[in-house]
Amino acid sequence: HGKKITARAHTNIALVKYWGKENESLIIPKNSSLSLTLDEFYTDTSVVFNGDLHEDEFTINNHSVNDDRLVDFMNVVRKKANISEFAQVQSTNHVPTSAGLASSASAYAALAAAASKAAGLNLNDKELSKLARRGSGSATRSIFGGFAAWNKGNDDDSSYGYSIQDPVKMDIKMIAIILNGSPKKISSRKGMKISVETSPYYDSWIKQTNHDFSVVKQAIEDNDFTTLGKTAELNAMRMHSLTLSSNPSYLYLNEDSLRVIEMVKALRDNGIECYYTMDAGPNVKIICQNKNVKNIVNKLEQYFASDKIKVSGPGEKIKYL
Ligand code: DP6
Repeated sequence: HGKKITARAHTNIALVKYWGKENESLIIPKNSSLSLTLDEFYTDTSVVFNGDLHEDEFTINNHSVNDDRLVDFMNVVRKKANISEFAQVQSTNHVPTSAGLASSASAYAALAAAASKAAGLNLNDKELSKLARRGSGSATRSIFGGFAAWNKGNDDDSSYGYSIQDPVKMDIKMIAIILNGSPKKISSRKGMKISVETSPYYDSWIKQTNHDFSVVKQAIEDNDFTTLGKTAELNAMRMHSLTLSSNPSYLYLNEDSLRVIEMVKALRDNGIECYYTMDAGPNVKIICQNKNVKNIVNKLEQYFASDKIKVSGPGEKIKYL
């Protein structure tokens, strides 16, 4: 029996999105991305290697699961550590409701940290980020707290996440609205592949996103919330326009998403500064500042149950429990 190791990773929401791979098996992206790690959504994962097991055993929120992607990831860890034992992996997602936000980002960041240490490796944050990347691209950024980025790179060694600013100096909050939707119709993995292969606007997306990256990075340095919010909102909608322009076309927004978007615009018209972003599902996240949280939540509660509204601030980096 090896030692049981537990790690906690927080999820992150991209302000400049990753949407497309240069290398699918190594998960090298087409562009660099930038995110905010959130304090309210996280995953705790414990791993123990055990020579008596005949296969890896995974439980998520106390339910046993079989998942090839998880096994592939554990094989990467075994190879790196030069061991052959299988492992018992237990993962708990700390999210307010069942829906949508326990992303693969916190899951693979926590698994990379727990599994590598349990396997006897002692990786620094950069190496952990590279390892997490083999599970899910967005997990590279969840190794870090606050504002983080994923440097695209061009091979296994040069593609990793890094800290942009932690602790965060900017007054910034994210309000997640958990909307009902059928479980992801098209996973981000599948969606981005269709976009890369078929959207005639894909090259423009890359060009524009490289620009958005430098604008948001500068806004963080300048403590310029307005530029950060505006650019993040534009970047998100540019990503979603790739889904519409793909063949076959697909869409993550639903009617509730549109309702939240209209509410954000109405709030803005009333002098309450806020912006929205969305990922590969119907949930909307509102980017705002502390002074406006109450106003925005009050408005949201006219349409959505309060347990579907979750306010987060900047979250911390990976840690061992
Ligand atoms: C829209 O990291 O889930 O959230 O690398 O295939 O696991 P894989 O994809 P994933 O994609 C995230 C897409 C996004 C934008 C982002 O987080 O940058």
